[in-house]
Amino acid sequence: MQKRLVSGIRSTEKIHIGNYLGALRNWVKLQDKYECFFFIADLHALTTEKNPGKYTEDLAKTYLAVGLDTEKCIIFVQSQVPQCTELAWIFNCLMPVSELERMTQYKDKKEISPNAGLLTYPSLMAADILLYKAEFVPVGQDQAQHVEITRKFARKFNKAYGQVFPEPKVIFSVGALHATPMLMSLINPEKKMSKSEPKGCLFLDDSEKTIREKIQKAVSTEAGIKNLIALANAFDADLKPEPNNYADFKKKLTQVIIKKLLLIQERKEKIKNINQILEDGRKQASKISQETLREVKNKIGL
Ligand code: ADP
Ligand code: TRP
Repeated sequence: MQKRLVSGIRSTEKIHIGNYLGALRNWVKLQDKYECFFFIADLHALTTEKNPGKYTEDLAKTYLAVGLDTEKCIIFVQSQVPQCTELAWIFNCLMPVSELERMTQYKDKKEISPNAGLLTYPSLMAADILLYKAEFVPVGQDQAQHVEITRKFARKFNKAYGQVFPEPKVIFSVGALHATPMLMSLINPEKKMSKSEPKGCLFLDDSEKTIREKIQKAVSTEAGIKNLIALANAFDADLKPEPNNYADFKKKLTQVIIKKLLLIQERKEKIKNINQILEDGRKQASKISQETLREVKNKIGL
């Protein structure tokens, strides 16, 4: 039997090529080897976003356009499987506040007076994973601490009430970007490419013109060029610039990126029945999550 795997991306704005190379492209490979559950993390997005629902359909279409296949994996929306919030509550009651306060992601947001959802973010993420008794979680380095605390939730529950959950392991997206674990910003290559800095970021739905402009404006420092070479390599293009002549290299790289992104955009355009696909996913995910929650409540005596 195939082992189970769970992952999700928050439905905040647009997806960029860093998300694609660091997460999505890896999922496409994994769906052949594991029983996969991929979801749109709209409830997690709600910790920082007022209306995450408006990005849900688009993100789901992106999942399909990059190559996820519902014959091979289950795609659903987090908020449509409410058992995760119920299990998250149970997990909240197992974890001391002091442990949650030590999480890096929470500490980074501390100065902005975070909402309680940001503090209990790990309980919901652990519930997302453990509801399906997943053994593997493919995420970027930045999410490793969340998988580590998920293992702790599993241990604490199993110790308190008896064995229910496996302790899941991270699968890092190694190999996806070859030598570079993170794709860096085009205009500030010391920082990772992130939607918080849109100018340094190639979004999957950028137009041909925008892609051309962004690559043209990409900085040509040593770190900048190294990042562009890594980007070319990630798309199997063996491009190397001539010393001090980056124009030709950038032109070729632009062609490679445009070809790939337009292909994804064309596929996305053709996806019409997204709500039906998400409804099928909801049904399949609900069946398993209901079984697990029943088992959990039986153990607790609820
Ligand atoms: P962002 O930093 O743009 O807000 P998210 O935090 O929503 O992105 O990340 C979603 C997924 O994409 C995570 O698994 C994360 O590790 C991966 N990821 C994000 N940015 C990059 C990047 N620049 N290079 C590689 N992977 C990335
Ligand atoms: N926290 C993840 C991120 O910001 C998204 C996420 C939520 C997730 N629940 C998950 C990832 C469960 C993997 C498994 O990228």
